[in-house]
Amino acid sequence: MRQAGRYLPEYQELRAQAGSFLNLCLTPALASEVTLQPLKRFDLDAAILFADILLVPMVMGQRLRFREGEGPLLDPVRTKEQLQALTAQGGRLAPVFETIDRVRTALPPHVAFLGFAGGLWTVACYMIEGQGKHGFAQALQKVAHEPLFLKLLFERLFETTLAYLEAQSEAGVEALQIFESHAGLLDEKGFRTWVIEPTQKLVVALKAKHPNIPIIGFPRGASLANKKAYFIETGVDALGLDQMTNLEEAQRELQPLGVLQGNLDPELLLAGGPALMSEAQNSMKAFGPHHIFNLGHGVLPQTPLAHITAFVEAVHNKGA
Ligand code: CP3
Repeated sequence: MRQAGRYLPEYQELRAQAGSFLNLCLTPALASEVTLQPLKRFDLDAAILFADILLVPMVMGQRLRFREGEGPLLDPVRTKEQLQALTAQGGRLAPVFETIDRVRTALPPHVAFLGFAGGLWTVACYMIEGQGKHGFAQALQKVAHEPLFLKLLFERLFETTLAYLEAQSEAGVEALQIFESHAGLLDEKGFRTWVIEPTQKLVVALKAKHPNIPIIGFPRGASLANKKAYFIETGVDALGLDQMTNLEEAQRELQPLGVLQGNLDPELLLAGGPALMSEAQNSMKAFGPHHIFNLGHGVLPQTPLAHITAFVEAVHNKGA
């Protein structure tokens, strides 16, 4: 999961056919096929919608493109005037909901279907910086010196993200994941203001309309104390763990709070062999059966497919 399609030759084929990454995201026949591709090869228990966290700034009116080898590029939004000049592109995400409908119909009933959005802080990082390759100094500058600008940006982001996740639920996803990939950039105070508080508000609003949809939060790179506060205070149903999280600490401090997801190192899956299998064993031993087995981040593009097959099989055999 998480930009994971790239390790599959059949993904590369459809990606080439679509011409651009955004076209792939916004063409339901192709996006639904890409969503289902990993399930055809591997005995996985869940599928994640094929889309991107940056579709939210796009529908808010920010110009977005993906250049080969460069990652995402956006026209940065750094002033109140630039923020006010954004005009919402109503309806531009309609194809995503059609993709959800197609996938829902095609998925076998035992496979869970996850929708997702970026956490507000993480999406704000890309909106302000305009790219993701060189760090997020401009976004951190706003935290330190222009919190009022950030507040305005978060208000707009909140509305769009909430509407987007509600629409995904209505279209038929069965759980929602919030990717807060850049949570680790913030200190404790910043984490509280720009991650915990907006996420808590988002969860309350989502649960008001969809009380039964499980929500998984993924505050990547946050300290153990921050992860703990996030899990308790945001009200998410499950916590996604990055591979930096220590197994024993997670077992001791986080597992009593609810369901955990994670957190095998994608480098181990890439390397394969005995080290992979023994770490998978350690993880299963530490977390036990009430656990969503996953990587700590996305599958690396060079990962041999045979490693994934062997690994999924081993987890299913041992993990019952
Ligand atoms: O895993 C999946 O394929 C499911 C769909 C999905 C994508 N992006 C597709 C994608 C999901 C869940 C995401 C989430 C996402 N997007 C995050 C949060 C998770 C994380 O990785 O921390 C973030 C930060 C983004 C923003 C983004 N999108 C970046 C930084 C990039 C460039 C990545 C790179 O290394 O080049 C993307 C592009 C992207 N999103 C690809 C895919 C399959 C690669 C597109 C391609 O090269 O074909």
